[in-house]
Amino acid sequence: MGAIKLLVSGGCGFIGSQFVRTAVARDAQVVNLDKLTYSGNPENVADIADNPNHTFVQGDISDPEIVDGLMDGVDAVINFAAESHVDRSILDPTGFITTDVLGTAVLMQAAHKHGVSRFVQVSTDEVYGPVPEGEVDENAALRPSSPYSASKAGGDLQALAFATTFGLDVVITRGANTYGPRQYPEKLIPLFVTNALDRLGLPIYGDGQQVRNWIHVDDHCAGIWTALEKGESGRVYNIAGDQYATNMEITRLILEHTERGEDLIRHVSDRPGHDRRYGLDASRLKALGWDPEVEFAHGLEETVTWYRENRSWWEPIKSGEYRRYYERQYGTT
Ligand code: DAU
Repeated sequence: MGAIKLLVSGGCGFIGSQFVRTAVARDAQVVNLDKLTYSGNPENVADIADNPNHTFVQGDISDPEIVDGLMDGVDAVINFAAESHVDRSILDPTGFITTDVLGTAVLMQAAHKHGVSRFVQVSTDEVYGPVPEGEVDENAALRPSSPYSASKAGGDLQALAFATTFGLDVVITRGANTYGPRQYPEKLIPLFVTNALDRLGLPIYGDGQQVRNWIHVDDHCAGIWTALEKGESGRVYNIAGDQYATNMEITRLILEHTERGEDLIRHVSDRPGHDRRYGLDASRLKALGWDPEVEFAHGLEETVTWYRENRSWWEPIKSGEYRRYYERQYGTT
């Protein structure tokens, strides 16, 4: 891609930081705007902190002044910045609207004003709501269940409106459940892996038979690249992996890889409004030449190894703010 200049928001988060790393490796010039909320972590980009193609700026996408000051010469914006955890959106919904809807609109307004050629809105399969069987394509209705997914759907609708009304070149990606190194340990896989390593309980919501589609973070980032480079303006692209699994199946695999027993399993109250299953048809993106490459069994094992070998990354996280959230969410399981 040569010396393309990208503004990546949320580039210190789990998926964003992996994307920034890939972009810098591809010789793109990256401005990484991140608010550094509880889940944004400069450690996630420590390996490229001194790379001349990577500039970090701390700031909020819903702050028009900051955003406006960063758009000069930018070819494309990739918006990863979001409040993204369903359980936190149930505890406290309004902050999600500020970042996921207002922030997206502020970022797009600045992109439009500065004539940015492409805006990629990184979204989620959760906007479709539960898919009891089969797979939905990009034409499916939006039926979000949680304050989180409703706020992401709001961001998507703003993005499509900016395309229609202002002619902003927008592409939306809707990704499935993503896993891999550096994921904040509030999500199922890193929470259960780190708890299992510490011989703590694994809190399974309800019967644990909920189904998710899983995709490795590298494959998700590759999908976003494909949408950035080859996506058609104004279109939505689903990004899914090949693996469907129940939460119970994921839990058993984690116990196996961490060499722990089922005595760690705790059945706790179900998540209110819990989506039973997601199912995503990614053939539109596959037609552009993208395909997921990481086989789930291998990717999960490698991810467990990463958490085992990188305690120094997650141990400090699991104190302070995390501890307060954890006790509010789970009591003292
Ligand atoms: O589908 C894409 C979405 O995947 C992303 O848009 C979200 O940002 C991301 O958080 C994720 O949403 P989920 O709600 O599916 O992920 P989470 O890791 O929170 O939960 C996965 C499943 O595991 C879900 O059925 C709830 C269940 N679960 C989760 C936690 C944290 C438990 O049973 N116990 C738990 O403690």
